Amino acid sequence: MLDPPGESMATDIPSPEQWATLEAAARAAARQAYVPYSRFAVGAAILDEQGRIHPGCNVENASYGLGNCAERTAVFSARVLHGLQQVLAVCIYTPTATPTSPCGACRQVLNEFGPQMLVRSICDGTDRIDTTLDQLLPHAFGPQNLADA
Ligand code: THU
Repeated sequence: MLDPPGESMATDIPSPEQWATLEAAARAAARQAYVPYSRFAVGAAILDEQGRIHPGCNVENASYGLGNCAERTAVFSARVLHGLQQVLAVCIYTPTATPTSPCGACRQVLNEFGPQMLVRSICDGTDRIDTTLDQLLPHAFGPQNLADA
């Protein structure tokens, strides 16, 4: 079936331009990473349903377990600063030869704001990963489970 004129197909969101902006934001965010312990910089950028892009980087701590990943920094700061409601896509950049997939904790946090979001991991090599959150976190625990109680 053809889309009505003026309406874009779901596959057009994010548009190629939005993906390019998201990738650039993730690369820029990695430059703000505070990683004195691991030296492993990560930048993330999320696209919300209003077309806004929110960056985040990892911020480590001398008490190692308290460090925060880039993806969660992006979600939490977007929520606090801009009232984040829904995430359509996330891009994760690492200055490495191979792409980095979000850790388990970040998959869970991302799930809260977009169980079907698109997830793209990019790096300094030509490899990339394009997937969806529901592929990375099948049978997720989410708000619907609490509504069932
Ligand atoms: N890290 C992220 O920021 N995102 C991930 O999805 C994987 C891991 C960070 C945490 C820590 O600062 C460093 O990478 C090494 O684990």
